[in-house]
Amino acid sequence: MEETSQSCKVVLLGESGVGKTSIITQFTTSEFQEDQISTTGASFSSKTFNFDEIGKNLSFEIWDTAGQEKYRSLSKMFYKDAGVAILVYDITSKESFEQLKNYWVIQLREYGPKNIIIAIAGNKSDLENEQVDEEEVRNYSKDNNFLYKRTSAKNHSSIDDLFHDVGMKFLDPEFQQRDDVVEMNLRKNNVKTIEIKDNLDQDNINEQGEGKIEGKKKKKKCC
Ligand code: GTP
Ligand code: MG
Repeated sequence: MEETSQSCKVVLLGESGVGKTSIITQFTTSEFQEDQISTTGASFSSKTFNFDEIGKNLSFEIWDTAGQEKYRSLSKMFYKDAGVAILVYDITSKESFEQLKNYWVIQLREYGPKNIIIAIAGNKSDLENEQVDEEEVRNYSKDNNFLYKRTSAKNHSSIDDLFHDVGMKFLDPEFQQRDDVVEMNLRKNNVKTIEIKDNLDQDNINEQGEGKIEGKKKKKKCC
């Protein structure tokens, strides 16, 4: 296994309550909370993942965004220079999949990097009252060249597989050697320091979703 690992910025997007925070928590700490509180602003976590089959490590730098409407303009800040976007819907909510197609994908196309790897996670697969036709999701993902996984943050089903698949696509030499990806990696290394807190201040965000983040929690190099 190589000693130094490459990093990959991942952003999770989707409606409030679909399980974005729960997926990240399960992936990074193998824990699940029934009473997970709704995210305000955004939060950061990371995990290094081993890809034994290719002898590589990848450090996932994961941005959890808030699905609530009042925080939406803020999410745009986190698309920038992201290598991967994971779009989450709840399999028991048709509305959450409709919003994924009609809002989140459109937003990413407009404001995200053109080379971004997109994966769809149909979460809460442990529940029985499925409302979204899985065949439709599979066809939609195939037509758009998106990865697709059916996950449960509650019982850890396909969570590691999801990150494995996006990581393998990210590390694929064909992807890494694309001119726009090389340029993006160079830009990413030219980082600025911003401060983060649990409740990001919406007043500091402009129309483009850019702005100052004030805070107390920790410093993180970003964008
Ligand atoms: P926002 O932060 O508001 O955008 O929501 P979110 O997408 O981060 O959802 P969150 O992770 O907070 O989960 C919402 C609720 O769904 C919580 O009560 C979780 O316990 C529950 N939940 C999340 N994932 C699963 C899952 O896979 N199965 C089940 N049964 N419940 C889940
Ligand atoms: Mg959340």
